[in-house]
Order: sequence, then C-alpha cells, then structure tokens
Amino acid sequence: TYPRRVRLIDVGPRDGLQNEKQPVPTAVKVELVHRLQAAGLREIEVTSYVSPKWVPQMADNHAVMQGIERRAGVRYSVLTPNMKGLEAALQDRPDEIVVFGAASEAFSQRNINCSIAESIERFAPVVEAARNAGIAVRGAMSCTVGCPFEGDIPPERVGMLARLMKDIGVQRVDVADTIGVGTPLKVQRAIEAVLAHYDIDHVSGHFHDTYGQALANTLAALQMGVWNFQCSVAGLGGCPYAPGATGNVATEDVVYLLHGLGIDTGIDLLALAETGAWISEQLGRPTGSRAGRALLAR
Ligand code: HMG
Ligand code: MG
Repeated sequence: TYPRRVRLIDVGPRDGLQNEKQPVPTAVKVELVHRLQAAGLREIEVTSYVSPKWVPQMADNHAVMQGIERRAGVRYSVLTPNMKGLEAALQDRPDEIVVFGAASEAFSQRNINCSIAESIERFAPVVEAARNAGIAVRGAMSCTVGCPFEGDIPPERVGMLARLMKDIGVQRVDVADTIGVGTPLKVQRAIEAVLAHYDIDHVSGHFHDTYGQALANTLAALQMGVWNFQCSVAGLGGCPYAPGATGNVATEDVVYLLHGLGIDTGIDLLALAETGAWISEQLGRPTGSRAGRALLAR
C-alpha cells in the first residue's frame, strides 16, 4: 500500500539553480517561486545562506527572500550551514532552515570544508537558535548511498549521521542520493537505517537522477511509507561539489507517477509543466522533465 497523500518540496530555486554557470536574475528566481506556489507547491526551498565564494549563484539570497510574495500555507525553507548563515537567514524569516551534512567524510570536506563531527558541532547552535526563534529545522544528509569520492556508503554510516542529527534537535531529515547512483534496494536500506532514529513522517527522499533511477527510488521509498520528497521542477540542478551529478528528479515526473497511483499532491500538473518549460526557456535549455515535455507536446 501507498500513502494516500504526498508532500513535495520543490528545491528548484535552490538545488536547481545553485550550479548554473550564468547568473540567473533575481527576478527570475522570484518568479519561479511564484509560479511554483501558483501550481500548488506547499513547500519550496528558496535559497542558501552560504559563502558567495563557494556558491556565487546564491549570493542574492536576501533579495530573493525579500522579493517573494508569501502565500499562507506555503513553507519557505533555506539552507544555513553555520551561525553566520543562520544570522543572515533570520533577517528574512524563513519557515524552516536546513542544515546539511553528509554520510561521507570526503564529501563533507569538499562541500562544507569540515569533518562530519565538526559539522555537527557547527550545526548544534544553529539548530538551537532557529528553534528558539520558532523556525523549523530540517537536516539534509548527503551521500546516503554513494559518494563521488568514497564510492558506496554503508547504511550504518547513514544511521550514525541520522542519530547525530537527532541528538542536536533536527526535527526531520532528507535522505539524499546526491549523485543519483542509488537503486531501489540500496535506497531502502539507507532509509531503514534512518528509521531507527526518525519516524516515517519525518523522513524525506531526495533523489538526484544521474543514472535515471530516481523515479524507481521514489517508488521504493513510497512502498516503505515515505510521503515527503524533494524534487526539482524541470529536473534542474546538481551540487557544485558533486562532480558529474545531474539534477533532482523532475517534480513533474514525480507528480505524474503519484497521480497515476491515485495519490493526492494538491498540485496542478499542467501548471507545473508550464513552469518547467518557462524556467528551462529562461535558462536556454530543454526541460529535463519527460512528463513535462510529453504533456506540453499534446
Ligand atoms: P569556510 O571557508 O570553511 O568558512 O567555508 P569560514 O567560516 O572559514 O569562513 C570563510 C569565509 O566565508 C569568510 O569570509 C566568512 O565570512 C565566509 P572572508 O572573511 O574570507 O571574506 N562565510 C560565509 N559567507 C556567507 N554565508 C555564510 C558564510 N560562512 C562563512 N554562511 C562554508 C564553510 C560552509 C561557509 C562553505 O564551505 C560553504 O559556503 N559551502 C557551501 C556549500 C554548498 O552550498 N553546497 C551546495 C548545497 S548542499 C547540496 O546541494 C546537497 C543537498 O542538495 C542534498 C544532496 O543532494 O546531497 C542539500
Ligand atoms: Mg541535492
């Protein structure tokens, strides 16, 4: 059996755009958020408060957050790797902040310039300050099946990271296949390891589609009862510190899958497909969504 409804978190404005080489105008980012919420998305990952030297594309975080017209009932989340990021984010009052760690030491070093243990030490005050400010806290866990530098990551490492996140007060976690190497059984084992520390309502799937497995992995997670997923309109994106990795699974494709299973998402698929076509045009490339392309060709 499958969950009756699924909550999708569109990470397009953040994960989707962070790796774009050409600067994307702030107004385009703002309009993307507006179009996503108009299509029925109720959670949107908007931007990151990270070093502009590391990720120049997210340097307009304040302007994007200030530019969006917020809708009641929509949760706007942002990435904050440290206290400096959190302090900057607090000025813009996100609904949720995201600390991001990894199940791989090498990836942790490359992405946030510290070990896993050091990252948890950095996150702890961030989590505490956010929660004291009444802001929800999510933890992204990268490389839960494979790492571009270390190869396969055993589920125990994922369980260990989930426990560390839980210990510092992170309320829910994303099980991320950063480089899209996972296949359904591997992804299920990673999720299983996390379920020792978080209940199913507080675990989400975050699958990049590098090897074309992300929809299969989504189905495998759904079969376990996972009902929160991150995905990216038009399949935009990739992490700048994960060489060769492509974007997240396209939101349109996930919605098509879910609606086909009779699962409610609250999303207007056609409006979403149009949003995917629009942002792809803005970026000067074809959409990465198969369902989006097919729907608009009809
Ligand atoms: P660091 O160099 O170790 O930091 O970077 P530091 O504390 O030593 O500071 C160095 C400089 O950075 C200083 O500036 C700080 O002020 C500045 P300087 O004095 O040299 O001019 N700085 C900052 N500036 C703005 N905002 C901040 C901030 N912190 C320090 N928050 C740091 C450590 C974490 C900052 C850096 O490594 C970084 O920004 N990394 C960003 C990595 C990133 O954004 N990756 C992509 C997102 S994660 C992802 O995509 C994966 C995910 O999708 C899940 C999945 O798929 O796996 C979530
Ligand atoms: Mg990602």
